[in-house]
Amino acid sequence: MNISFFGLGYVGCVGAACCAKLGHHVIGNDTSENKVNLINQGKPTIIEAEINDLIHDAHAKGLLEATTDYHYAVHNSEISFIVVGTPSSKEGHLNLNYIYDVAQQIGEALADKNKFHIVAIRSTVLPGTNAKVGKIIAKASGKVRDKDFTIVSNPEFLREGTAVHDYMNPPLTLIGTDNEIAEAKFRELYKDLPGEFISTDIEVAEIMKYVNNTYHGLKIVFANEIGNICKALGIDSHKVMEIFCKDKQLNISSYYFKPGFAYGGSCLPKDSKALRTLAHDLYINVPIINAIDSSNEQQKKNAIDIIESKGQRKVGILGLSFKSGTDDLRCSPIVDVAETLLGRGYEIHIYDKNVRMSQLTGTNAEFIAAKLPHLHEIISDDLDTVCTKSDILVITNKEKEFTAIPTKYPHKCIIDLVRQFNQIDYEGNYEGISWGNINTNPMQNDKLKRTMVKTEF
Ligand SMILES: NC(=O)c1ccc[n+]([C@@H]2O[C@H](COP(=O)([O-])OP(=O)(O)OC[C@H]3O[C@@H](n4cnc5c(N)ncnc54)[C@H](O)[C@@H]3O)[C@@H](O)[C@H]2O)c1
Repeated sequence: MNISFFGLGYVGCVGAACCAKLGHHVIGNDTSENKVNLINQGKPTIIEAEINDLIHDAHAKGLLEATTDYHYAVHNSEISFIVVGTPSSKEGHLNLNYIYDVAQQIGEALADKNKFHIVAIRSTVLPGTNAKVGKIIAKASGKVRDKDFTIVSNPEFLREGTAVHDYMNPPLTLIGTDNEIAEAKFRELYKDLPGEFISTDIEVAEIMKYVNNTYHGLKIVFANEIGNICKALGIDSHKVMEIFCKDKQLNISSYYFKPGFAYGGSCLPKDSKALRTLAHDLYINVPIINAIDSSNEQQKKNAIDIIESKGQRKVGILGLSFKSGTDDLRCSPIVDVAETLLGRGYEIHIYDKNVRMSQLTGTNAEFIAAKLPHLHEIISDDLDTVCTKSDILVITNKEKEFTAIPTKYPHKCIIDLVRQFNQIDYEGNYEGISWGNINTNPMQNDKLKRTMVKTEF
């Protein structure tokens, strides 16, 4: 394939060298004449392991050249990667000016190109950038997106220092596209790289790098805070974290990584509180560990806000225990939501097939007696009774019996806290606590578009 790279810095230089190594013909483009000259002398623009030989060999084989002429780069390639910098502005916003400049240049060059062209954004950009770049190119070229060109989001995950190795051994290859030609081209382009090839929604691909990097930061500061507590206790934190990482079922795994409702139960709240208090008593400041509880409380408030935003007063709560398959009500987060709504005068009806008033004993009974003393008056063991009496149905536990609700009650408002549905075609109002619109119903989509907040950056 013939490929151009706009930007010959860390990511562009490595990408260009690795693509040439994979057998493609690469044209590098940069506004810096110095960088262009280096590539044309067979030298890298950066210092990085393995890069010298790759650039030298690619140049010697005639697979790599560079130019400041963006017209030439676009006309002699079928895919153009945008790999320019995306620095932070003084106020902390993302500065996308370099991206928009390149979009303008590619657009100008495309004006007199008659072949379909794929632009791939490899720089780290916020969701919405792909669409904006598409508009700039369409305006500058007079061409039509998806007829004459398309824009793919293909974030880069390499780390400096091991960049070539990371490029050649990615954990996965991710593209965001809605264009079949582009998807097929990218499958072909990356066919020799190991790891799963994932083609997904454009905005999902755009946000992934931020999710990854923020999580990596979270891992580091979490391990550091655990280390600081361990040090104060005379415990070897490296032994602790080594063992922590050996649990591949709950710790280093996809478990608990599903956005949804707050956690509860008799262990998580109690034990994280005990560790927070221990750190406090040791005079160890642990902002991340301390923030876990307030983030969890915030999710309860979010659920209440969504319920209140619907403007209806009769609320059916489907699932009262802290998770499905148990009657344990201790620290169940939905109990707090129900308590708040009752206090605000809402009419609450509750269904939970596992909770039998007569069978509640011990700390479980004590907890609920303190929080919802009149539970026996508002709980029913009949799902249909609760659904019929309520205008809003809040699904808090994932249960098979709830899947029929949209068909049986097509005009109620459903608030989903557990992703009961992966996709829903629902005439009534559906809202998930922590995910974007999954309702494919055209009527609801139109309504949603009118109310969506658009962030400009
Ligand atoms: N450096 C990393 O480890 C890394 C890893 C993954 C992703 N990223 C992301 O990749 C992007 C690029 O990062 P980088 O470190 O390679 O940046 P960089 O600053 O090293 O390189 C950017 C290059 O773009 C060139 N450029 C600017 N405007 C141009 C234009 N109009 N036309 C052609 N070239 C132009 C600059 O001269 C420079 O050589 C950023 O979004 C960054 O966040 C970086």
